[in-house]
Amino acid sequence: MKQTWLILGASSAMARAFARNVASEGADVFLAGRDMDDLERMATDCKLRGADTAEALRFDCRKPAGFGTIYERLALQDGALNVAVFVGSMPEQSEIDADPSLIDATVMDSFTGPARFLQGFAPMMEARGSGTVVGVGSVAGDRGRIGNYVYGAAKAGFATYLAGLRNRLTRAGGHVVTVKPGFVDTAMTWGLPGLFLVASPDDVARDILKAVKKQRNTIYTPFFWRYIMLIITHIPEMIFKKMSV
Ligand SMILES: NC(=O)c1ccc[n+]([C@@H]2O[C@H](COP(=O)([O-])OP(=O)(O)OC[C@H]3O[C@@H](n4cnc5c(N)ncnc54)[C@H](OP(=O)(O)O)[C@@H]3O)[C@@H](O)[C@H]2O)c1
Repeated sequence: MKQTWLILGASSAMARAFARNVASEGADVFLAGRDMDDLERMATDCKLRGADTAEALRFDCRKPAGFGTIYERLALQDGALNVAVFVGSMPEQSEIDADPSLIDATVMDSFTGPARFLQGFAPMMEARGSGTVVGVGSVAGDRGRIGNYVYGAAKAGFATYLAGLRNRLTRAGGHVVTVKPGFVDTAMTWGLPGLFLVASPDDVARDILKAVKKQRNTIYTPFFWRYIMLIITHIPEMIFKKMSV
């Protein structure tokens, strides 16, 4: 069956690597985001790699009035509609502590904006009885901690949303993969202190595609983050609340 991938937040280094991978498998690719020049260049690259169709689409998850144009364009595609969400923003926690209004934008970028988009897209997938949603969350959503608890809360909300969407789409022949990366070498983490075991965007993209093919429900990437988070989530709260992990 013809595969179409809509990639939201396509300028992310992880998204870029994922787009290249699906394009080289012959999928049609729609690159959605805010930097149209960058997305046009990526579309050209995806065509060279094997996509019959590769187009740039304007997408700002804070502006839901623009979602309809994307739904309408994707409705013209034959076959399975798939969507991968890489959108997210992570202001420093200290900035949010100083200006609590930043909470709204953080939650909108990392949870409610993508969820609102998916809520409108899901009926199109149900109607076709196929398709996969990839939602990129974060290990930060597994436990609130002093260094990024607003971003973590947004990612936790998104993970719960994705679990419910999986429950819904499964009964219509669709699937949802929740992706929880650890630290990845991208624009988001550039210059941040204290990172360890940093993965490359290419490795993460490869893990995601593998998870899509195997219809995995939730993956940690790289895989060892599952065990790191198992330990972190089992530290008793009376100890954890005094730690700075
Ligand atoms: N890097 C890590 O260590 C790490 C770890 C765990 C999870 N993640 C998650 O992985 C995903 C990709 O992040 P990244 O590390 O590749 O960082 P990134 O380059 O900052 O990617 C974030 C993407 O989200 C887009 N975006 C942000 N706000 C948006 C909005 N209002 N509307 C539309 N697009 C918006 C950005 O678009 P612009 O280019 O237009 O700003 C960018 O394409 C994010 O969801 C992030 O939370 C990252």
